[in-house]
Amino acid sequence: MAASVPVIDDDPYSDANLADPYPLFERMRDAGPVVWLERYGVHAFTRDAECREILGDWATFISSAGVGPSNLHHEPSWRPRGILESDPPVHGPLRKAMTEVISPRGVRALRAQFEVFVAELVESVLERGSVDGVCDIAEVLPIRVFGDAVGIPREGRAENLLPHGAMNFSTFGPRDARYEEYFRKGEKTHEWVMNNCARENLVPGGLGSQIWELADAGEITADQAALLVRALLSAGLDSTVIAIGNVLRECLRYPEEWARVVERPDLAKFAIDETLRHESPFQSFFRTTSREVGIAGLTLPAETKVLLFIGSANRDRERWGDDADLFDVGRQAGGHLAFGMGIHQCVGQPISRLEMDVLFTELARRKVTFEQTGDPVPYLHNTLKGWSSLPMRVTAG
Ligand code: HEM
Repeated sequence: MAASVPVIDDDPYSDANLADPYPLFERMRDAGPVVWLERYGVHAFTRDAECREILGDWATFISSAGVGPSNLHHEPSWRPRGILESDPPVHGPLRKAMTEVISPRGVRALRAQFEVFVAELVESVLERGSVDGVCDIAEVLPIRVFGDAVGIPREGRAENLLPHGAMNFSTFGPRDARYEEYFRKGEKTHEWVMNNCARENLVPGGLGSQIWELADAGEITADQAALLVRALLSAGLDSTVIAIGNVLRECLRYPEEWARVVERPDLAKFAIDETLRHESPFQSFFRTTSREVGIAGLTLPAETKVLLFIGSANRDRERWGDDADLFDVGRQAGGHLAFGMGIHQCVGQPISRLEMDVLFTELARRKVTFEQTGDPVPYLHNTLKGWSSLPMRVTAG
């Protein structure tokens, strides 16, 4: 470590910092372009410019050694490595297969079925009036429409997919008691998830079976097809649940901003991007250097882990201006890093965006207002930032 790198003693993974990371993020950004996290023995990047530089240089800052703190070149992976933990040339065919299946045309075709379910969901939530935004809205929508889009059985989705995703994303952070807890809850879901990656269990025509068709066409192997369906199931659900919960939380906290969306439902897309920037569902993950490299005035040897806080980069004043901490649906927030950047940028984002767009456009169209009826409960997770409970009253205008 170079002597000039500021040292941070604080623990970004403490309960308090996970619930409200922004004061620590600000101190880390102010301390310099890179800081040394004493407790974890790792260099951390919290500003937009360096996070972008690292994510854009996949050949130097690689993913095949894992996107968590474990170096998979030297330690066994907890499961066979998939698209996220791959570099070119392995990554290319996997990525191509995913983008063929999650194509603009394919995603457009999903809109009608998402709209039918959202109309029913909004109606039932309005009838009830008092709901929990997380378990009654944010979880319900992806469990139903994303599960149907992939083509997996309806039974068992909630019990298996949510703990499975939470376990999967735990591996992007330190191996502490919280990690162990998410693993304990997630481990029993493994069999259900892997069974539903098998071609014979997937509904014909769904995204999962379309991936298997690419194996039939010789574009990918059967093992790769199973891993790609696994990627859909482990990366596609929790992420969107958290993101929807975060938008609802912003609506509760900033009613005047939601009122702008109700006035102009076409602003729903902007509210979604601004939420992804302001409260990023993924806060952090790692890369590993493939060679000696200079960055931010520092020389890092090959095989060094670096930690990127994209949740902090998305609040960087250098990038977003002095009001970066404010939630403003008028902001052009589309350039955020919440979906990552470069060759691994989220391949599923059109589906998440569609789910959220259909939901929040319908809520705005029905002129729904939200009122907090109890204390929101933060969801504490080493990688994801969201809410476990959002008690609220919903009323149509
Ligand atoms: C709002 C919801 C979502 C967020 C915030 C999100 C975020 C991310 C981020 C930050 C990455 C890059 C990680 C890295 O560079 O190491 C990523 C990659 C990925 N995401 Fe998402 N994601 C979301 C929804 C989804 C959905 C719905 C799916 C599946 C349909 C999905 C599948 C994937 C896959 C397969 C990758 C790996 C892509 C690659 O390595 O080429 N994600 N996501």
